[in-house]
Parts: sequence; structure tokens; C-alpha cells
Amino acid sequence: MPGSDLVLIVDYGSQYTQLIARTIRELRVYCEVVPPWVPAEQVREKAPRALILSGGPASVGDADAPQIQGEILDLGIPVLGICYGQQVLVRHLGGTVEAAGEREYGPAELRVADARDPLLEGVPAASTVWMSHGDRVTALPEDFRSLATSENSPFAAIRHDSRPLYGIQFHPEVSHTQAGRRLLENFLFRVAGLRGTWTMEEFIDRTLGLLRERIGAGQVICGVSGGVDSTVVATLLHRAIGSQLHCIMIDNGLLRLGEVAEVQRMFGKGLGIPLECVDASAEFLERLVGVEDPEKKRVSIGHAFVEVFERAAARYADAGFLAQGTLYPDVIESVSVWGPSATIKTHHNVGGLPEKMRMEVVEPLRELFKDEVREVADRLGIPKEIWGRHPFPGPGLAIRVVGEVTPERLDVVRRADRIVIGEIREAGWYERLWQAFAVYLPVRSVGVMGDARSYEHAICVRCVTSRDAMTADWAEIPHALLARISNRIINEVPGINRVVYDISTKPPSTVEWE
Ligand code: XMP
Repeated sequence: MPGSDLVLIVDYGSQYTQLIARTIRELRVYCEVVPPWVPAEQVREKAPRALILSGGPASVGDADAPQIQGEILDLGIPVLGICYGQQVLVRHLGGTVEAAGEREYGPAELRVADARDPLLEGVPAASTVWMSHGDRVTALPEDFRSLATSENSPFAAIRHDSRPLYGIQFHPEVSHTQAGRRLLENFLFRVAGLRGTWTMEEFIDRTLGLLRERIGAGQVICGVSGGVDSTVVATLLHRAIGSQLHCIMIDNGLLRLGEVAEVQRMFGKGLGIPLECVDASAEFLERLVGVEDPEKKRVSIGHAFVEVFERAAARYADAGFLAQGTLYPDVIESVSVWGPSATIKTHHNVGGLPEKMRMEVVEPLRELFKDEVREVADRLGIPKEIWGRHPFPGPGLAIRVVGEVTPERLDVVRRADRIVIGEIREAGWYERLWQAFAVYLPVRSVGVMGDARSYEHAICVRCVTSRDAMTADWAEIPHALLARISNRIINEVPGINRVVYDISTKPPSTVEWE
């Protein structure tokens, strides 16, 4: 974001890179992630105030291991190498890194040797840190010294004698490192002299200006789902360009009970943004007949969406821009050292549309994490009932009906979902969960209702906590609440005689069943 103090994170492929970025943003410092081969010229142009080198799975001595470009170190800005980042730094400057024989993974004790160094200010003399490395530094480059040790290493934290070049062997970004946040704070505020000035007010002001400048007198089409991301995109654009914005919502027949009416009300009455609703449910359901495979479902829904949206958008022939709610995690994925990660699930709302429609894409949220989007929503005056809503997948209930999607099954899952959400809200749990929902399972089991035998289907209740959906835990909601949900579903939803609770974490499971 131009104008804000910038920290660059060079991503060497660590699973924790996003966590570093998020933690820095939480400290109100703007940061971006770049791959190791980012041209030094580009880094100079971006004029970052500090550089962080992430961890990574490679062995720094290997022929194809990602390295650091020396010119970047010559920019004179503070550098913090984390784990592999430390090793890259050390090796580049003439120190030695060797394979440790055994991988060190897990907690270790950090002992501070130089408490006066700004990096370690306020860090306890002894504290727990999280290690995850194979190789380790065995000899420091010239003019470097150790600031802290661990049982396994005299070089748990190091620095250059006169230049602001630092390295640490452990991961400050994970919560198991007790003083991790303090250490990152020290690096940003004491070593690099940054101030925490990245605020969502600033983001909104700048974004409105940039949108007006870019779009000018042009027309913009924005697909709306009722979720927080597209609602924020629409609200920003509406503020920036008013009636040049055209919002379209597609009813794919896979939404929750009463959802279309709710979104229409929220846009019309609540936000004052005109919204056109297209009922394409018959078309989507038609395409799902006989489809059981989850990926095939996603693909047919994706294709149907592009076609229906194109037809609806054709009415705005003058529109040169298409607005999308892309968030920063998607952007990071595509620039990471390993490229976009293997497709586990095709998210139909990413990609596809713009190429086909030959429109310029406008993505005002592409620098933000989900929690930042929620903060922007709040600052824009969007009510909490909207920005606090749980995420809902693009393919909707189609991926919450295991097996073939039929109108009857959708009806069942809708009723069950309504009960789950109602009870969760009533019990004050809604805001504590990342998501709560019902899944229709096409298995039949025997039950007894009244005096009669029943042989009917099952509903699975899934409630998870998460920070960003990359990992998730099943939620330990009270048994009494589970009991109420179960009783109500079995009593009120025809065709269901059994309710189960999903106790799988992500990984290895995923949040959705399909
Ligand atoms: P999984 O099931 O991959 O889900 O652990 C992670 C998060 O993404 C949501 N999700 C989707 N969202 N289109 C979306 O917009 C999709 O195709 C899709 N699939 C999963 C899911 O609800 C969870 O929050």
C-alpha cells in the first residue's frame, strides 16, 4: 500500500510465512510477502523499512536451495532471518551451516546472553521457544556475535556488530514461542524504528481515492454473495463511485433458508446499495443431477456460475471493470516459493470469470486478511450481523449434501442448518466459532420412533474454531447444547433419525466435507 511504511517478508516456503505476515499486521505495520527471486531493483523501488527472511524446508547448502540476493542486504535496512532465513544470511556472509544429523522439532529453552540488545529488550532471561529445523549455524560470519543460546545451539539469536542484521534459529511467529511477539515488536519498533500506523481508516481513505482514480467515469460490475468480502467490496465501490456500480446476486438454489431475501434486505434497506437478484436455481440444480463427486460438483457449479453471471452482466455492456473479493492469503499462495499449492478443492469463486469476460479486475481487498476485512466492514458502518457472519462456501449447500444433490436433500440440510445456527446463536456461541453447520449424510441407520422402527438418514453437525481456515479445531461446545441441537433435528426434520458430531481437526480433515 503506497504511503505506508512497508516491511517485506521474503518467503522461503515456510508453512508459517502467513503467520509472520499476520502477526506484523496485528502490530499495525504494513507488510508484503515476496519470493526469494524478487529482483533487487523491485525491492529498492518498494523502499521497505525492514526485511524478514522466513523459514523454509530447503537445506541451504543444496544446489537448488533458494538464496538471498546480496544487493538486497546492501540496501542498509534492518534484516531479521528466521530459521532458514538465518541460515541463508549466515552462509551468504561467510559463516557455516551444517546438517544437524537429527531434526530439532518442538520446544527449547532460550537463554538471553545480551539483554541490552534492542532485539531482546523485555525478553525474559530464560523462556520457551519453538524450534523446527534440520540444519544449523555452526560458525558465525565475521563481525557477528551471539545474543542468545539454547541447549542445542550457541547461536539461537545472533547479530552483526554494527549493521542491523539479525538472525534467530527459532520461530517467533508461533504461539509456542513465549516472547515471540515481543521479539517481533522489538525488531520492528526498536531496531527498524517503525511505528504502528497501518490502520483500517487509512486503508479506507486511500482505497476510495485509488478506486476513483482508476475507474474514473467507468462502470463496474460486482458479484455479491451476502458474505463479508463481497459486501465490503460493494460498499467501498458504492462509496467511491456511487451509481456507476452494478451489484448482481445469483441465486444458485444452494443457499440457506431465506438467504436471498435477507441479502436483498441488507443491501436495499441496510446499505442503500441497489442489488439485482437473478434466480438461476433451476439451471444449477439441473446440472447437478446424477453428480456425486465433490470436484465434479464444484466444476459444474463453477461453469454454471460463469454462464449465468455473463448473461446477467451482458445488460451492462458499457462496464469495463469486474470487482472481486480476493483476499491476501490467495495472493500469497500464488507468489510463494513453491507456487500455488496443490489443488485440494477448487474454489470456484477464484479465477474463471475475468478472462472470459475480458474486463479489468478490481480487487480492493487483495492486501487484506479476513480479520482486517471485518475491521474495514465495521469502520464502514456495516452492521455486525453482516461482518460477523460465518464464511459460507461458494458452492453452498451442494458441498454439504454428501453424494447427489436433490431438492429434497437440500430441504433437509436447510432445516437442520437453521436449527444448528439458531441454537448456537441462542447459546451465545456463534461469535466464538469460525463456522457451524449441518451436513447431510446419505447413509441410513435404524432407529425407533414411538413404537415403530425407522430406517432413515443422518445429519452431521460440524462446529469449528479457526483463525483463518488454514487449520481448524472442532469446537468443544457444551453437551447440553449438542443435546438440544440433536433433539430438535430428530424431532423437527423429517427423514432424519440420527445426529452425529464431527470431531475431526484440519489437517488432516478439512472444514467442509466435500
Ligand atoms: P476447507 O473445507 O477447504 O475449507 O477446509 C476452508 C474454508 O473455505 C471454505 N470453502 C470455500 N469457500 N468456495 C468458497 O468460497 C469454495 O469452494 C469453498 N470450499 C471451502 C470453507 O467453508 C472454509 O471456511
